[in-house]
Amino acid sequence: MSNYSDFRSDTVTKPTARMYEAMQKARLGDDAHGDDPTTQELERHFQHLFEKEAALFFPSGTMANQAAVAAHTVPGEEIIVDESSHLFQFEGGGLSRIAGVQTRTINSDNGQFDFGRIAHAVRAVSVHMPRTGLICTEQSHLFSGGTILPIDYLQELHAFALNRSIPIHLDGARLFNVQVETELAFAEYGAVCDSLMISLSKGLSCPIGSVLLGDGAFIERARRVRKWMGGSLHQAGVVAACGLVALDEMPARLATDNALCRQLGGMVLGLQGARMAQETIDTNILFLEITQPDLDAPMVEAALADHGVLALALGDRLLRFVTHRHLSHSDVEHAGSALNQILNA
Ligand SMILES: Cc1ncc(COP(=O)(O)O)c(C=O)c1O
Repeated sequence: MSNYSDFRSDTVTKPTARMYEAMQKARLGDDAHGDDPTTQELERHFQHLFEKEAALFFPSGTMANQAAVAAHTVPGEEIIVDESSHLFQFEGGGLSRIAGVQTRTINSDNGQFDFGRIAHAVRAVSVHMPRTGLICTEQSHLFSGGTILPIDYLQELHAFALNRSIPIHLDGARLFNVQVETELAFAEYGAVCDSLMISLSKGLSCPIGSVLLGDGAFIERARRVRKWMGGSLHQAGVVAACGLVALDEMPARLATDNALCRQLGGMVLGLQGARMAQETIDTNILFLEITQPDLDAPMVEAALADHGVLALALGDRLLRFVTHRHLSHSDVEHAGSALNQILNA
């Protein structure tokens, strides 16, 4: 795919030269025995950054999210989750299979729950009903186009949950793309949830890895879940080393990815036969709705590939574009003019 302008996802990013070097030089132990120094160093860095008690390295965001749910709940409990969230939509039904929870889905407005609705969804204490064991939220909110949830909303959600003794898990897969815009301290995000997951393998460009954060007891439960999920790695430091480099060289440059996405949004505004399917471009994700009746999203996806541009069709009408380190202004211009040609052919 190296000759393509690949907008399918920021997960296509490859390690940087410094990451390859760090992999080679990483000090290694056996993380399953708790003595891989590089993994421990990465976990400590995240712990300090978010001011959480403990951190745990995972092979993927999905595994970390699922382990978080399993560590917060017991089977048979109910969790409140956004209908359009990654956890509910794109993790293979893991919530029921792995944690054994049932889901109470709520529609959100660009990732934000209505407090009346969520209050209605919290179960009364009753022997007849499941217990509400967790509320999950996502920052940035993928499905509404990488929207940023305002910190005051997250603080209100946290207060709401605290009042009812319900923990909050934050899927912060792309939280670094958010922070570069808001410039808030990472600890402010750490303070509004009981646990959070950060992906290293998206805009941060690591080949593998995510970090789960929470209090010490929660992380010990998540460590057990990770073990039975098969996610306990041995010389994990080989990949954790990339995370340490990422923390040093990546966060500030994510502003470029977000800016590229806004540039793409500008090009899309002028198109006939398609429109932006989101209100704002806050970070690095753009959903395009194909409105031209003779075309659908898979057809446009295929035609774009013929022009050397890769995007991701989601359903009949939506096409997703995600910007990242391997894309430039000229890739964006190329994608814009290819779309123009396809839609006006
Ligand atoms: C919002 C969100 N959460 C979680 C994940 C899962 O991460 P992974 O692909 O590492 O399993 C993704 C992946 O794209 C995501 O977009």
